Amino acid sequence: MILNVNGSRHEVKAEARMLLDILREDLNLVGTKEGCGVGMCGACTVLVDGKPFSSCHLLAEQVTGKEITTIEGLSRDGNLHPVQQAFLDKGAFQCAYCTPGFVLTTIALLNENPSPSDNEIREYLSGNLCRCGSYQNILQAVKAASEMI
Ligand code: FES
Ligand code: FES
Repeated sequence: MILNVNGSRHEVKAEARMLLDILREDLNLVGTKEGCGVGMCGACTVLVDGKPFSSCHLLAEQVTGKEITTIEGLSRDGNLHPVQQAFLDKGAFQCAYCTPGFVLTTIALLNENPSPSDNEIREYLSGNLCRCGSYQNILQAVKAASEMI
């Protein structure tokens, strides 16, 4: 089975396997994190054709033929994606375990709604949890990113 990940095609043994496991174990894309493992925390978020999905809850068969983007696929020519840069600038993390998921969900949000209100940001990111409680800085980072994009 072929998966399209970060602009490259990968032949993988994907039958009855979760996308998260293939990304981490077969493709060594370990920026995609496993938290709850049951679709509740957002740590494993990836973009599938630009929309955020929990990769722990997605069978690889469901995403063949689609474009998958992980945190490793965001930088260009050594430059961070503007959303990554905004998270860095605003110190929007402590342990950073949740950060890849937040960054990818933020990109999806800003693609849909380039100037979200605070409440729209909170609502869209409500499926991403941060155990370190960095929510205030994350909110500031998303707002800063919306002005950079
Ligand atoms: S690890 Fe996938 S949603 Fe928590
Ligand atoms: S920064 Fe630690 S879980 Fe969010």
